[in-house]
Formats: sequence, structure tokens, C-alpha cells
Amino acid sequence: MDQDERDWWRRGIFYQVYPRSFQDSNGDGVGDLRGIIARLPHLTRLGVDAVWLSPIFTSPMADFGYDISDYTGIDPLFGSMEDFDALVAAAHDSGLKLILDLVPNHTSDQHPWFIEAKSSRDNPKRDWYIWRDGAPDGGPPNNWLSEFGGSAWAYDEASGQYYYHAFLAQQPDLNWRNREVRDAIYDVMRFWLRKGVDGFRVDVIWHLIKDAEFRDNPPNPHYREGRPPHEKVLTQYSTDQLEVHAVITEMRRVTEEFDNRVLIGEIYLPLHRLVAYYGNDLRGAQMPFNFALLSTLWSARAVEQIVADYEKALPPGAWPNWVLGNHDRPRVASRVGPAQVPVAAMLLLTLRGTPTLYYGDEIGMHQVAIAPDQVRDPFEKNVPGLGVGRDGCRTPMQWSAERHAGFSTATPWLPLAQDYASDNVARLEAARGSILDLYKALIALRRKLPQLVHGSYEPVAAHGDVLLFRRRAAEGVAVIALNFGAAPASVSSSAIGFSNEVLLSTFMDRQGEKVEGVLDLRANEGVILGPPVDGVTE
Ligand code: NOJ
Repeated sequence: MDQDERDWWRRGIFYQVYPRSFQDSNGDGVGDLRGIIARLPHLTRLGVDAVWLSPIFTSPMADFGYDISDYTGIDPLFGSMEDFDALVAAAHDSGLKLILDLVPNHTSDQHPWFIEAKSSRDNPKRDWYIWRDGAPDGGPPNNWLSEFGGSAWAYDEASGQYYYHAFLAQQPDLNWRNREVRDAIYDVMRFWLRKGVDGFRVDVIWHLIKDAEFRDNPPNPHYREGRPPHEKVLTQYSTDQLEVHAVITEMRRVTEEFDNRVLIGEIYLPLHRLVAYYGNDLRGAQMPFNFALLSTLWSARAVEQIVADYEKALPPGAWPNWVLGNHDRPRVASRVGPAQVPVAAMLLLTLRGTPTLYYGDEIGMHQVAIAPDQVRDPFEKNVPGLGVGRDGCRTPMQWSAERHAGFSTATPWLPLAQDYASDNVARLEAARGSILDLYKALIALRRKLPQLVHGSYEPVAAHGDVLLFRRRAAEGVAVIALNFGAAPASVSSSAIGFSNEVLLSTFMDRQGEKVEGVLDLRANEGVILGPPVDGVTE
């Protein structure tokens, strides 16, 4: 098979759509599949290669689709199977790959498997979930905590046992030590792969296997008041167990039954543990999501250290990836501040590795304040007041200055950002030098310069607020200089190494400028330097 075709995900740029918030086509205030189809031209104009959809499957929506009651059904809120088939066809016709969210760790408590499992202790599906007797005092079997607050064990009166749920009680964990469970989920994967989907982002993949003895988790010595309560214990026995890698190898085998598919893992772990998810001999996930940029202090030195640590930790042959935002974390624009948004974009699209964009980041959408009576996120409802709510990064896409931002004809399920009349796709598309313009130029330049895709990453020593690195390939070298600071900075050309010109500035006004002697950076400016490239426009 053509290696180039197989490696599309290494060259490609991924874009996450949160379907509830992308585009509503039927006037119910919630986004849907027909809406996504209508907005595919935005994605092709932007220049991305693959779209990952957060869950669209049948669900009671206790966790907005991450609680699935039918793995092979489309929730009517999003449309029908016909709509889904039309989306696959339309995406592929537009040259876009389509990635689905696979949620194998838990089902909804409304899933027929759980209803059966719960019906009696000797039901054949009982062992598909994780049931334990209570502790001698009648309390939960151990001290494991739900990520959404409280004990991770829910008591079932009828059968007198507890079941385990790493998230909501409405999301019972499947027992991945049970062979039938594994085979059932692998069949789900085959169902969608046969429909033509190009891969999966696997939800909480590092949670799948739990300690066989259900030992208590140790207390977290670094827990601070004001942090979410589940952080009081370390997840030593409830996540990241060695046996999970054998499961992931099996999942990978399923995707390998089909041509050119990709397996992405959602994993929040320190870098040295994260890289184990590539698997032995790279039989694990092709892209264990690297979330290091989601929680870093935003400084040149901190980011430089992360890149160095990650590059060093990657096993030979493993392909890196980078993420700036997703539906669980505060928007990047709010984390780094508006002035740094263009620098963050340039960083994401020039580091070595596959970038994943979160919808709306290309127009600089920020975290939206949610009034208490508008909270929808169950995490915020269970653990109020700590700022854990995820609604603020899930607000509707801002398409235009029209009523409801062109997202819907009805009041959207979450409030719109107040500034949507100025920060929207229609206006920013027409505004030269806008953040949207910059994203497009960065993506276009990445396509023109192979060194930005497969070139090596070479850090170059720099001081203060400047992050400096080279990307080198047989085809040429590019130099990237990013000023994380709010004051001008300069870099001597001896650090850059050779004479170059500016290919792109985050201000989009220096293209073609020769750089000799010293490179002056304005406050909050990033530039890409290199030998002149035909047809690069700012
Ligand atoms: C991770 C998902 O990204 C998040 O949104 C969800 O709440 C949990 N997994 C539980 O499925």
C-alpha cells in the first residue's frame, strides 16, 4: 500500500467539531449532522484534513453524548443514519477524513447491556460491568472517586451490590477484563469502519483496565483546597494499568483490518507515561493525544521545556501530536490572553507533529461566562463553584453577526459569546490580517514547506520571552521565532544561522522582508523565516 496514503494522519491537520454547537439545521437550538454538512466548506477553506466529531450516538445526554445507550445508532437530536451516511460521503467528496468518538470505557445506565446486568446477579451480562460487595461497614468497596464528584461506586438496592462509575452514576464502567465486552466493542468499531469512517478518538483510553484487586488509591499529597474533589486521591489503581496496552493493541488490530485508519487516544498523563500508549513496536495508538500545552504556564521557557521533554520521551518511530484546546478545557484564547492567540496558533502549526484544532479557535473564540441558571454541564452541577464547568468552551460557533450568530434560528442550548457580532467567521474572513486569515496562511504555508510537516525539530538557544527553533528537512530549513512577551525582543542572526526572509508574521505584514544581522520582533509577534517560497501571500 502507498506509504503516503497510509501516513495521511502524520501530514494532516485535525479539527474537532462539538456537534451540539457547530451548526443547527432544524431550528431546535442544538447543532446536528445536516448542519455540519452545510459547514464543510468552512473547513475546506480553512485547509484542514480531518474532522473529529464528539459523540453523535443515541444517548440520554446525561453527559451530552458521552453516555451512550446505542453504539450503532444516531441520536435523533443529531439526525438519522441517512444523515450520517450523507455526512461521510460529503466529507470524503470534500477531501476530508471523518473521525468518530469511541466511548468504550462506559455506557449509559440506559444501555440495554446495563439494564440486563442490573436485572439480577446471575444475568449473563452481569459481568459486563464492575460489581462489588460493599465494605464491611456497608460503605463503598474502596476509596476510588468519580471524576465528577463523590464516590465512584453507586449502590444498587435491588441486588445489594455497588457498581463502578469513573464519571457519572449514569455512566457505569464496562468490565474490559471480560472477553465478550471487548468483542462487542470491536464489532461496534467494525460497524463504523465499514461505513467508511477514517478512525476513532478513543475516550479515556487510559481508564479501560482497573486494578484486578481493587486496592485503595493512595492520598494525593499535593491536593490543594479549591481543586476538584476527585484529585484528593491519586489514580494509581483505577487508571493506567499495564494490561491496558494489550487492549489497545487489540483495538489497533481492528482498525488495521481496514486501510488507512487512525487510532487516537484521549490520555491525560505525564509525558513519560503518555508515550507508553504508542505500544510496544508501535502497535498501540498512532496518536496518544499530547495535552501538555493545555495546562502549561504560557511562557517561552515553559513551552520550550515541554517540547524538549516530549521530543526526548518519544519512542523511535513514534509520531508527535499537539493540542491547544478541546471540549473539556478552557479556551486557549482565555488561557493565553488575546494578544498571544496568534502566537499560540503559529506554535501549534509549526511544531513537529500533527496539530488538532478545536472548533472556534480559528476565530479566537474565548471562554464564555455562564450564569448559574444556564449551567448545563453535569460536572459543574455536581461540583459547583470551583470553575470546573465546561459549558464556557462549548458555546455555539459564531458564523455571522446575524441573530444567534448564524448558528440557529432558535435560542441556542448554550449562550453565545457577547462579542459574536464582531468575532465571527463572516467578518473575520473578510478582514485582512484577522486570526482566521492567519490560521489559513499558516495552514497554507505548512502545505508549501515540507520541512514544517516532516522536518526535524531543532531548538535554538534564546533568552527571555523568545522561543526559537528550526525545522529541517532535505527540502530546506525554516526558522520559527515566537515572542511570548508583551515587549519587543530581538534575536541575532547568528542564532538564526543563515540569511532568510520573513515568510509569515503573526501580524501578516512583513512577508518578503530580508533578515540580516538582527531579527526584531514586536511585542506578541511570531515569525516564520526561510528561503523565499513562491506564491506565499500574507
Ligand atoms: C472524556 C470526555 O472528553 C469528556 O467530555 C467526558 O465527560 C468524559 N470523558 C466521560 O466520558
